[in-house]
Amino acid sequence: MQLAEAMRTTAAVREFTDDPLPDDVLAGILEVARFAPSGGNRQGARIVAVRDRATRARLAELNEPAARRYLAQAKAGEGPWNPLTPPGPSAEQIAGTRVPRSFTEPVLKAPVVLVVLVDQGTLAATDQELDRVGLVGGASIYPLVWNILLAARAEGYGGVITTMAAAQEPAVLELLGAPAQYAVAAVVPLGRPAHQPTRLKRRAVAELVTRERFDGEPLA
Ligand SMILES: Cc1cc2nc3c(=O)[nH]c(=O)nc-3n(C[C@H](O)[C@H](O)[C@H](O)COP(=O)(O)O)c2cc1C
Repeated sequence: MQLAEAMRTTAAVREFTDDPLPDDVLAGILEVARFAPSGGNRQGARIVAVRDRATRARLAELNEPAARRYLAQAKAGEGPWNPLTPPGPSAEQIAGTRVPRSFTEPVLKAPVVLVVLVDQGTLAATDQELDRVGLVGGASIYPLVWNILLAARAEGYGGVITTMAAAQEPAVLELLGAPAQYAVAAVVPLGRPAHQPTRLKRRAVAELVTRERFDGEPLA
């Protein structure tokens, strides 16, 4: 598959066939994905490849608290987990929100789930003194996560970046026996897609890019 085609068609895949994703295929995907960049090339990533059912069941459970808030806020017309706006729904409303199985099933049904961690001791977070949510630290780990999905796509597999379990980071680290210095970047179920979307909805270049200034002419 051509690189441009993979980039245009690497969709979020949350439903999988019963096909296995054998270790040798997984190793091949990670062999190319590992060339992702990180700040100062510090390479603080660690990936735990989880196949064990009980561990996956616990990861699914650990999605639920963040998913509850996500769904309660979405129902209230808010941008879920937006750092600029505290949630409108009360703690009781959030606690009473039901989490549909579609939020927990991908980690239960995928043949393998990758938990992507990063050693915070390797991060260079140049925005850490700004009065806003940190962004730059994540740039040392998410290129790897995306490379994994692109490499999986090239092999006919797929998956999705999920971040709900990150809200329960201490419990995830304990589950995997990882040191507290690590941060949870993503939980990525991987497998053979039940459906492969090929027409993704994304904004056009002219809506994303302007010349010279923020209010400049759109780049056609
Ligand atoms: C940072 C990030 C966090 C995400 N978290 C979740 C998540 O917790 N659960 C989930 O199902 N999808 C999650 N997604 C997947 C997005 O919803 C998906 O990439 C987006 O809606 C585009 O979907 P499409 O490629 O099918 O068009 C996340 C994606 C990103 C980039």
